[in-house]
Amino acid sequence: MIGDAKITRRVVVLSDVHLGHSATQVGEVKFLGPLLEGADEVIFNGDTCEQTVSAWREKGRAQLAELKLLCARLGAEARFLTGNHDPDVDGEGWMDLRGGQIFVTHGDMILSDVAPWSLECIERREKIREVVEEFKGDVSTLDGLHRRTQLVEEELRPSEEPRLGSKGRMYLWTALWPPMRPLNILRVWLTMFAKAERFTERFRPTSEVFLFGHFHRPGIRRRGSRIYCNTGAFMRGARALMVELEGEWMTVRAIIRDKDGYFRPGDSCGSFRLRDQRSRSK
Ligand SMILES: [Fe+2]
Repeated sequence: MIGDAKITRRVVVLSDVHLGHSATQVGEVKFLGPLLEGADEVIFNGDTCEQTVSAWREKGRAQLAELKLLCARLGAEARFLTGNHDPDVDGEGWMDLRGGQIFVTHGDMILSDVAPWSLECIERREKIREVVEEFKGDVSTLDGLHRRTQLVEEELRPSEEPRLGSKGRMYLWTALWPPMRPLNILRVWLTMFAKAERFTERFRPTSEVFLFGHFHRPGIRRRGSRIYCNTGAFMRGARALMVELEGEWMTVRAIIRDKDGYFRPGDSCGSFRLRDQRSRSK
């Protein structure tokens, strides 16, 4: 009966809200309300708020508190997973849902250098390589890989204020320089599903679904018998998707914005029937 109770919960998964960032589209937490309504549980899959850049940290902290209050007011249990922008959020690095059917993690563990498109990664390439090569832990386990990822992310922490306009108007332009940035962005976008497949095969070979974010590139792919969904991002120039889990169904929806600025569930981009949780455990 406990399994039945869990399976009837309506769970929503979002990622990369980036509260506090000058280029997030979520200027006010209330705009997320319609996405959270009716959910029993909301999983924020990393980069929910900004914790690594001092100029954005305080706003990110205050808005994270607001987000928790909003979820509580709507009767939704808020659960957080860490991302490279919010390594200190109150949550783990990954999550297994429905007895392991669904594997959820931000996606920063997929790449050894975490964020090859970032200026910090380009400028500190040698140092990052050293951290990766000198790591003594066991990266064949998720615990070990997560620890190495955290060490790389400490090296990637920006040492100066962001080189953006005050309201993030320059955000999209900053992706073009140095030229290595757009090249690296294109490269990871073209390869992210193949890399996600290798990662999931290695760490959760029996999962049916892998949910991730991090790459700010929404999409759904079926590779083999598994569904991969990147939920995109709420950043300027990007699009976000929401995942709904209810009963035996997983639905991926577009997110639309109404004229008042509220984000709302849009059309379905795909519905997938999940195998019966009880039959899996036999
Ligand atoms: Fe992000």
